[in-house]
Amino acid sequence: MKKYDNVTIFDHPLVNHKVAILRNEKTSMKEFRELIEEITTLMTFECLKEGVPTVEVQVKTPLETCTQRVIKDNSIVIVPILRAGLGMVNGVHVLFPSAKVGHIGLCRNEETLEPVEYYAKFPDGIEDKLVLIVDPMLATGGSACDAIEMLKRRGCKDIKFMAIIGAPEGVSRVAEQHPDVHVFVSTLDRCLNDKGYILPGLGDAGDRIFGTK
Ligand code: PRP
Ligand code: URA
Repeated sequence: MKKYDNVTIFDHPLVNHKVAILRNEKTSMKEFRELIEEITTLMTFECLKEGVPTVEVQVKTPLETCTQRVIKDNSIVIVPILRAGLGMVNGVHVLFPSAKVGHIGLCRNEETLEPVEYYAKFPDGIEDKLVLIVDPMLATGGSACDAIEMLKRRGCKDIKFMAIIGAPEGVSRVAEQHPDVHVFVSTLDRCLNDKGYILPGLGDAGDRIFGTK
């Protein structure tokens, strides 16, 4: 895949180790959910290294008062793409417990692979926040692009997208259509199969998180 300034592919031993267990078809639903959360937390640490609004506060230590930068209150909104993105929300909340959550419901039509929108609800004032869209799978990129476009139509200007597994086709599509959105992917896989599934991938993330099928 071409290199893009707005794409970060993680290559971290801890993340790779957890992704290997996540992929395994024998991994239980409970462990799968836990791993999705853990990988999300590890990725969030890096993903929010830059561009997070901060303010200076005064802190009185037992010895003296100092100035310290902290994350600005109410500055981040997490937006999971339903369903599978829900599995990542707690992984971000562990680090940012007060982050509000917006929801976008998108479901791929299994024949056309085009996303179909069925739900959208956002906290007031989302247009002025740093929006972190989460979805474990970035396959054709259709769902990611739709979600980004919905948020841009609402006036959001500061958007990051985080996925656990990406296919080169989808990562390139988002990177090219939305050069202002930084895309974070823990692992870049080989390609899509003719049904739009990522290879080697991990199967259907939503089904594995929620035990459907
Ligand atoms: C999966 C996944 C993404 C989308 C990725 O969701 O969680 O949202 O597919 O595919 P794309 O990049 O080709 O759009 P799905 O539509 O299967 O819905 P679900 O989360 O309810 O299972
Ligand atoms: N959605 C999934 O859950 N898995 C894939 O491989 C592709 C899209």
